[in-house]
Amino acid sequence: MYRKKTLFVLMSVLILTSMILSACGTKATEAPVATEPEGDAQFSVGVVLPTKDEPRWIQDETRFREAFEAAGYDVEILFSQGDSALEKANVEALISKGVKVIIICPHDATAAAAAAAEAREAGIKVISYDRLIRDTDAVDYYVTFDSVSVGEAQAQYLVDKAAGTGNPLYLYAGAATDNNAFLFFEGAWNVLQPKIADGTFVIKNSSEAVALQDKATLTRDEMGKIIGQVTTDWKFDVAKNLAEAHLTAAAAADKGDAFILAPNDGTARAIADVFAADKDVTSYVVTGQDAEIPSVQYIIDGKQSMTVLKDVRTLVSDAIAAAVAYLEGKTPAETTTYNNGVIDVPAKPSVVVTVDLSNVKQAVVDSGYYEASEFTGLP
Ligand code: BGC
Repeated sequence: MYRKKTLFVLMSVLILTSMILSACGTKATEAPVATEPEGDAQFSVGVVLPTKDEPRWIQDETRFREAFEAAGYDVEILFSQGDSALEKANVEALISKGVKVIIICPHDATAAAAAAAEAREAGIKVISYDRLIRDTDAVDYYVTFDSVSVGEAQAQYLVDKAAGTGNPLYLYAGAATDNNAFLFFEGAWNVLQPKIADGTFVIKNSSEAVALQDKATLTRDEMGKIIGQVTTDWKFDVAKNLAEAHLTAAAAADKGDAFILAPNDGTARAIADVFAADKDVTSYVVTGQDAEIPSVQYIIDGKQSMTVLKDVRTLVSDAIAAAVAYLEGKTPAETTTYNNGVIDVPAKPSVVVTVDLSNVKQAVVDSGYYEASEFTGLP
């Protein structure tokens, strides 16, 4: 059984040199360099997360550190800052350190396939974390929440808040490079489409969605068309600009009491701020996910309607359990599979919880997820 406590000091420094080409405003990035670790100690598990710029992934980092420490394992956690080249350099740095298992949340599902293949080649087990690595057979296991159910929970919330017919509906989606964006949208469409078909909602911001609104089930390509039109790219500024463009284009009559499918908390806050500032929007209901601290505060303050709590502690402990299973030569628990375009990847998805003002205290504070001191005005 693996119980060896390594004595490794975290000395890895990632050097990323950026150059701004002022003439065209584009940014050129030199090939990222991940420095070699000092000393000869060995890690057994490495974690690669997509970006430090969203509270969601800081949650994961914190929970990983707590859980690995409690379990007596060393871990190195690297961030890819939304850059597939840096992500690959991170994986290569971990390979050179001799890890046995890499837990990776890909920035770009398909681009990450090359890094996964390199790890596989080096005899390392690859655990896809939260987001599925696509188009490769080099993924051993997928640790995830039930992302279709996240989209369904968001859509159900909108449905439950809507009365009558003709309610204006604004759709937003995650990054098309993230497989989850499709799963979230699929779940939302499952619930929203019948309510669009019966006239409860009228889509106001996507001609592609309107063109497909009579179809109960969409293909990946069809979803791709809609997502292409309403993607936030998981970025706050993209979400804000998109919402502004939509409200500028919409007539006053298409605003009123608005219903907004926002894919996650960061984009929900950005979009909510835009809708709140429009004088033709009388009220709005907006979804989210992740229970980020700023969004929990938005919910308390009445600025965001709901979020979907994905208890990162569960995901982290599932990931560690899977890693330990591999380190012990076993196979992690599997309840289903997710097709990644090449293989069916074994997985055991976790459940999610809908949170709004009515249960926010119980779900995120009384549950021990966050300290009450993080918030003001808790109900
Ligand atoms: C995750 C979400 C997150 C989003 C943006 C998705 O893959 O499942 O929790 O909000 O990426 O980072």
